[in-house]
Amino acid sequence: MVEVASASQTDIAWLVREDANLGQPWISRCVALGEYLVAREDGEMVGFLRFSRFWGRVPYMEMIRVLPGHRRSGVGTTLFLAWEAAMRGEGARLLMTSSECDESRPQDWHRRNGFIETGAIELPGLQSVPEVFFIKHIA
Ligand SMILES: CC(C)(COP(=O)(O)OP(=O)(O)OC[C@H]1O[C@@H](n2cnc3c(N)ncnc32)[C@H](O)[C@@H]1OP(=O)(O)O)[C@@H](O)C(=O)NCCC(=O)NCCS
Repeated sequence: MVEVASASQTDIAWLVREDANLGQPWISRCVALGEYLVAREDGEMVGFLRFSRFWGRVPYMEMIRVLPGHRRSGVGTTLFLAWEAAMRGEGARLLMTSSECDESRPQDWHRRNGFIETGAIELPGLQSVPEVFFIKHIA
């Protein structure tokens, strides 16, 4: 049984370990703003979704990650659907996400969840391949 909830202060140490490279100050900020959802299976943390808002208003899924031993059993979908429902509840009509252009597996997963590709941008000096953007209309 997978349960999804907004992350709380007590989840920060786990997020610092599992949402690598972000750092504790930013993770604490995102938790305080309600920008993380976490998934638990039988009380054990198994995944998270972090988001922000493009232009301050379009929900943008920055990262979704399920622990390797728990993939392909519906945790990611449960996290995503909980986020979509929460964003719809806030009145959002469009969702956004993105992925490196050579990451075909996450992209297939995004498409499976109703996202369509909408363009790519190059990020010289930051990333060696373009970042592909996806949108999903939920109105
Ligand atoms: C992408 C990710 C979040 C998906 O979560 P998950 O819990 O493994 O996915 P689910 O079990 O909910 O997937 C549901 C369906 O999608 C399929 N699926 C799962 N991973 C897939 C993938 N990488 N590509 C295509 N389909 C996939 C499953 O087979 C399942 O279909 P089924 O029910 O018909 O068997 C997870 O694999 C992950 O953490 N990957 C590494 C991090 C990453 O790439 N994140 C995305 C970019 S930010």
